[in-house]
Amino acid sequence: MTAGRDVTRAGLSQLVSRSIDVIGTHQSPSGAYPACPGFSAYSGYSWLRDGAFIAEGMSRSDQAEGPTRFHAWSARVVGARAGQVASLVERAARGEAVSPAEMLPTRFTLDGEDGTDEWWDHQLDGYGAWMWALARHVERHGADVPGAEHAVRVATRYLTAFWDRPCYDWWEEHVERRHVSTLGAIHAGLRAAISLGVLDAASSEAAAEAVQGIAALVEAEGVARAEDTTGGTGRPESTTRGHLTKWLGTDAVDASLLACVHPFGLYPPGHPVAVATVAEVERRLAREGGVHRYLADTFYGGGRWILLSGFLGLNHARAGRPGEAMRYLEWMAAQASADGELPEQVSTVLLAPERREEWVERWGPVATPLLWSHGMYLMLADELGVKP
Ligand code: BGC
Repeated sequence: MTAGRDVTRAGLSQLVSRSIDVIGTHQSPSGAYPACPGFSAYSGYSWLRDGAFIAEGMSRSDQAEGPTRFHAWSARVVGARAGQVASLVERAARGEAVSPAEMLPTRFTLDGEDGTDEWWDHQLDGYGAWMWALARHVERHGADVPGAEHAVRVATRYLTAFWDRPCYDWWEEHVERRHVSTLGAIHAGLRAAISLGVLDAASSEAAAEAVQGIAALVEAEGVARAEDTTGGTGRPESTTRGHLTKWLGTDAVDASLLACVHPFGLYPPGHPVAVATVAEVERRLAREGGVHRYLADTFYGGGRWILLSGFLGLNHARAGRPGEAMRYLEWMAAQASADGELPEQVSTVLLAPERREEWVERWGPVATPLLWSHGMYLMLADELGVKP
């Protein structure tokens, strides 16, 4: 991948227009955003997680109509699963085991059905991310989203009941763990649901309890112990705070943790845990403007992800470092193909080069255009005042 694209102000602006165009062109008549229209493993599917950030990028770029249609599609899809959620919640309340395979999926066909292919489907974060993006869009554009009230109640019931269980993470891995970025998305989603004012008193109270429960659990088990800077005295007042961790009970980081600071606000920028998290992700995972997912990544050899540069750039901007943020926006733009399409990841720096080919053979070249990459580009461009 060359870094020869135009990253002058005009080039950055042009990619804003192109991103709006790519996302708008591929949005399904149903309202769904396909993750990547031409990529074998994703084709015909829409993820709530991807869709939430794609919609937020468009919504920030003064595109009200497309995101409203996406949110209406999501509301229909989530609302239609009210019976499934009620049954899962009742069974769990009776102490019955519910298996990951019985939970709601992470992705749906563009018509809103469950998929028929095998997938790592039990992921809770998308339901939180969706409510977060919905609330942002409604607040920003005063959008009227059909079915939203019912769907928010259903998703809130689901997350309030199951937030503390393990599930696959943002990268669809490690179903046996409780992932801090997943908890961050649920935290933001439940706060958004409360703020939308559509919950009855009991659900609102249950959601608020879950929000507090998440914050307490992450604080207790999802923050790495800080290095001892006390010279062995161990006095707490002289130690620095640690960073968020990939899952509860490890020291490893994952770049998706950036979202727990901004935009999800589990720890606001400036909080010592937020500062340590952004610094540690950048130190361990960022290389010349591109950001790896986590150190042990082998998917397509473990390249650098465009969308993660977006999250890191947003966090720099929110922490008052626009120059650093701009460096990430420029790197993102430099990865666009000649016709202005952004891939999922670039393969110029790989953590596990020997593992790349097996994925190319299995699924073909890296997913391009990945609509979530374009959505993150729009979010960061807007943050930095780069307009079409
Ligand atoms: C990523 C997910 C993403 C999906 C669709 C997967 O490879 O791990 O985070 O939602 O692709 O873009």
